Amino acid sequence: SLVDSSIYRPLVHLTPPVGWMNDPNGLFYDSSESTYHVYYQYNPNDTIWGLPLYWGHATSDDLLTWDHHAPAIGPENDDEGIYSGSIVIDYDNTSGFFDDSTRPEQRIVAIYTNNLPDVETQDIAYSTDGGYTFEKYENNPVIDVNSTQFRDPKVIWYEETEQWVMTVAKSQEYKIQIYTSDNLKDWSLASNFSTKGYVGYQYECPGLFEATIENPKSGDPEKKWVMVLAINPGSPLGGSINEYFVGDFNGTEFIPDDDATRFMDTGKDFYAFQAFFNAPENRSIGVAWSSNWQYSNQVPDPDGYRSSMSSIREYTLRYVSTNPESEQLILCQKPFFVNETDLKVVEEYKVSNSSLTVDHTFGSSFANSNTTGLLDFNMTFTVNGTTDVTQKDSVTFELRIKSNQSDEAIALGYDYNNEQFYINRATESYFQRTNQFFQERWSTYVQPLTITESGDKQYQLYGLVDNNILELYFNDGAFTSTNTFFLEKGKPSNVDIVASSSKEAYHRGPAD
Ligand code: FRU
Repeated sequence: SLVDSSIYRPLVHLTPPVGWMNDPNGLFYDSSESTYHVYYQYNPNDTIWGLPLYWGHATSDDLLTWDHHAPAIGPENDDEGIYSGSIVIDYDNTSGFFDDSTRPEQRIVAIYTNNLPDVETQDIAYSTDGGYTFEKYENNPVIDVNSTQFRDPKVIWYEETEQWVMTVAKSQEYKIQIYTSDNLKDWSLASNFSTKGYVGYQYECPGLFEATIENPKSGDPEKKWVMVLAINPGSPLGGSINEYFVGDFNGTEFIPDDDATRFMDTGKDFYAFQAFFNAPENRSIGVAWSSNWQYSNQVPDPDGYRSSMSSIREYTLRYVSTNPESEQLILCQKPFFVNETDLKVVEEYKVSNSSLTVDHTFGSSFANSNTTGLLDFNMTFTVNGTTDVTQKDSVTFELRIKSNQSDEAIALGYDYNNEQFYINRATESYFQRTNQFFQERWSTYVQPLTITESGDKQYQLYGLVDNNILELYFNDGAFTSTNTFFLEKGKPSNVDIVASSSKEAYHRGPAD
């Protein structure tokens, strides 16, 4: 093979040991063991999606290193799949599955879609060994509406009514259905939620969680509810995308604050987001699958596996300016590690108070030929508002995340005239050059943190690079872009910062 087999595998982002992975499932935190459990859609028999489909299983104490376990739930027959779903901890044994031999923190019930050739039903299974093995409920299914497009139950506990609440997609009717239950076995339909925004081809993986408002206005509650939804295909960038709605929830009905559809992440590789059950200190943390159905089955798989999760992220709500006259309550994200210092930096470089002029590069001295492929960067920068450029000029600066073995780079650029950021993930890899959906370039608008009277614009950016993933968090996570990439040679090793102007290219006609 042309590429080193371990070249792409991320170090801290979860990947399956072998085989195929898609959506995160059953996320929960076992407080009695201080352990995070992540299950995922798993085909151990191939590196493409296919039946029989299992729940793969991994655990972590720090959310950076992962222990792999045997698949936790599998189908009865080879033409069936245990599709996406969630896990709850049934502390009070509402289901009756447990007795005193299982401590309350480990009374684990999984709620998932059983995908059969002619129907999708919602089924449950329980575990008395902390989530490693499961027993299916003998009277499954718990919900059957005789539909082939009815899936992805996410269950939460709603304190005020002391009930279990399920969001589940009636995928091709564009409905998120809300069911309630006292015992996880008997469910009744409480309401339907439909959006007026992007609907795409179908709805998948809905979910409800609460997030803290960082900068509440007077009269605001401490937290608001967030409804997430995955649509595929139908993303404006093509393929899969996660959207969200902020609003109120009363135990039976979700009422959004407005009719807008907002995207969780403006990259190509962030889908099927799910929040953890029982996250520590009532925080809102979750994770998404870092791929896109448009090309997930085709990306390079030299190491015998395909795809990874995003980093685990923490979610808050914040009023953020989205233009000079408006602010909106935005879902903000940052990577969540159990200890900030767990992400060990091999070498640290600091540059302060530097200014960049056109045709200037700095950063090459950072080159690290022994790179592990894992690096991060944090910067605050100001774009000078008084620079004299004409509209015909293309004046840009780029952060180029470079290979340690070739000139290839993944770039985040800023275009001075358009006042917009762009991603350029063009590489030399055969997959990259030939796949019609793995686009190389697109843009993202980020409203500056501040704009001075003279027009200087300030931005903040945190970037996390892990072999074949680039996660960008702008302005303390108010805007994010998550994208995979495949270098033909080498591993990401350093970040160059390059300013350039391409006046000439714009004025030239066709080549002679
Ligand atoms: C979303 C999804 C879910 C389904 C699962 C099957 O990516 O299509 O709707 O449960 O994947 O693997």
